[in-house]
Amino acid sequence: MIALFKTVIHLLAGGSFIYLYLLIDSGAFGADPVKDIIHFAGKSAINLLIATLLVTPLAKLTTYSPLNRVRRLLGIYCFIWATSHFASYAVFELGLDLSLLSEELLKRPYLVLGFSSWLLLLAMAVTSTRTMQIRLKSRWKQLHQWVYLVAILIPVHYLWSTKSEWIEPLIYIVIFTILLLLRHKQILNIFQTLKLRESFR
Ligand code: HEM
Repeated sequence: MIALFKTVIHLLAGGSFIYLYLLIDSGAFGADPVKDIIHFAGKSAINLLIATLLVTPLAKLTTYSPLNRVRRLLGIYCFIWATSHFASYAVFELGLDLSLLSEELLKRPYLVLGFSSWLLLLAMAVTSTRTMQIRLKSRWKQLHQWVYLVAILIPVHYLWSTKSEWIEPLIYIVIFTILLLLRHKQILNIFQTLKLRESFR
């Protein structure tokens, strides 16, 4: 069953690269294809982030715990699409000019949110293997809990990036709020642990 789920994920999340290529090749994108590529990759990444965060509540609801085994694959695809989104912006919009990137980051705070989230996704992707999980012990869980921060930053990054379209980003904010509310106990625990650490200092 899990093998079937994983195949579907590969077909959808991996196959979307072929779909994107076909869209570009057929000229289906409008007058500004670079913008459309950035949007396509950004939307794929945010949808995969939602899918990743949906796994735990779905596994609990269905009491089918093996479902948790597809979370890593979804997270990796989220990171791959986020990297494609970042890369298409850095290459096509900025011509890989790093000084321009730092100027843009200073000018547009929503890019700082996107960039910080990407760094967190990078850290999680790099440490997502079983070996890293064993090596990092309890710190692994702490590191991967940063995904909750990404779930706050990314919908804000989306809303802030748009000039006219409000409805869709607001729908994403509602979805992420629900996903975070479903984890309110874990999130409160994180705050309590942080408070405890403070009081021991
Ligand atoms: C280095 C990191 C990032 C950079 C530089 C970046 C850059 C951008 C830019 C320039 C836009 C606006 C495009 C436009 O309308 O002109 C945008 C929108 C967006 N970004 Fe990012 N982003 C980053 C990270 C992320 C990550 C990690 C995600 C998701 C996991 C994400 C998801 C989105 C989404 C969903 C949109 C809106 C797309 C749309 O308008 O349809 N971004 N980003």
